[in-house]
Amino acid sequence: MFNRLLGYFSNDLAIDLGTANTLVYVKGAGVVCNEPSMVVMRNDTKKVVAVGLEAKRMLGKTPANISTIRPMKDGVIADFEATGEMLKYFIRKVHKRRSFISPRVIIGVPSDITLVEQRAVKEAAESAGAREVYLIEEPMAAAVGVGLPVGEPRGNMIVDIGGGTTDVAVISLDGVVFSKAVRVGGDKMDAIISAYIKNQYNFMIGEKTAEEIKIAIGSAYKTGSTELTIEVNGRDMISGIPKRVSIREDEIREVLAEPVNIIMNAIKAALENTPPELASDIVDNGIVLAGGGALLRGIDLLIKHETRLPVIIPDDPILAVVKGVGSMLENIELLGRVAIDNAR
Ligand SMILES: Nc1ncnc2c1ncn2[C@@H]1O[C@H](COP(=O)(O)OP(=O)(O)OP(=O)(O)O)[C@@H](O)[C@H]1O
Ligand SMILES: [Mg+2]
Repeated sequence: MFNRLLGYFSNDLAIDLGTANTLVYVKGAGVVCNEPSMVVMRNDTKKVVAVGLEAKRMLGKTPANISTIRPMKDGVIADFEATGEMLKYFIRKVHKRRSFISPRVIIGVPSDITLVEQRAVKEAAESAGAREVYLIEEPMAAAVGVGLPVGEPRGNMIVDIGGGTTDVAVISLDGVVFSKAVRVGGDKMDAIISAYIKNQYNFMIGEKTAEEIKIAIGSAYKTGSTELTIEVNGRDMISGIPKRVSIREDEIREVLAEPVNIIMNAIKAALENTPPELASDIVDNGIVLAGGGALLRGIDLLIKHETRLPVIIPDDPILAVVKGVGSMLENIELLGRVAIDNAR
């Protein structure tokens, strides 16, 4: 009973500070916040107008004196001030009516993050009120989050396809044996879709529409016999007038082949660099996908086809990292073994 109360009033938080989404896990309560990593600010005063979901709703609809900022780009902090404001907002949001003691915070960061970037993440969390900050490499967090036996002498391969980065890692005995990060993920896919539609149809669409197309009809591998289509709104660049066009799945698949190939090559590079004993474990256990990009239709089939290895998509791949860092709040021993400890 006492423990349950303690858990409930715990200040400890785990955060997946992602390029596309920020998720917060509270010890004893689970994932309590899952919102886009976006901040809307006034250009002159830097006053925050909106954060998260509310900010995403304003995307592409703000007047000239207000901008929508994505504080994280390519998996790292691009705008320090905005990241601090965003963390502050999320930490306060989940902390409301808990206690005023500043919390211990665990944050997932990309595996190729520099020391300067590590410090920036720590400082942003401290400025948001965190007392102790621990950093965990995202692929390690994702592997723990999907339930892989990271502590065993066994090769586990995890591929986390996020908004800004794709992290490929081989993990054994609580350590990352090999990792490769490429700054390609869902955002590049959206950008390439909107560039294609602009060139092919002289048609301008917004960032949000490009993502909607990807989610609705995007695919990495031909899955069914019929190709899906979607009607989207945008602006005809020649007449300047808003109109609708219809986009087909096969054209989008062709367009997505470029970013998808970069991800594929990172996976192949990781396989080539994995010591043979660990590689043979991967042959048996397969490649586990995580992140929002794991939901791109047919991505598992493509990887299976190219590598001839089993590919597993866990339930809720988007929650993998936050579940992993969250479980470390309850398992301090594991946290001690896997935390990055050279950030100061
Ligand atoms: N069904 C879907 N099909 C394709 N892509 C999807 C789908 N659902 C979400 N995504 C994409 O997944 C990405 C977000 O994934 P995720 O939340 O794992 O990223 P992140 O952790 O914020 O980014 P990063 O790890 O690079 O910092 C977005 O680009 C989003 O458009
Ligand atoms: Mg991520």
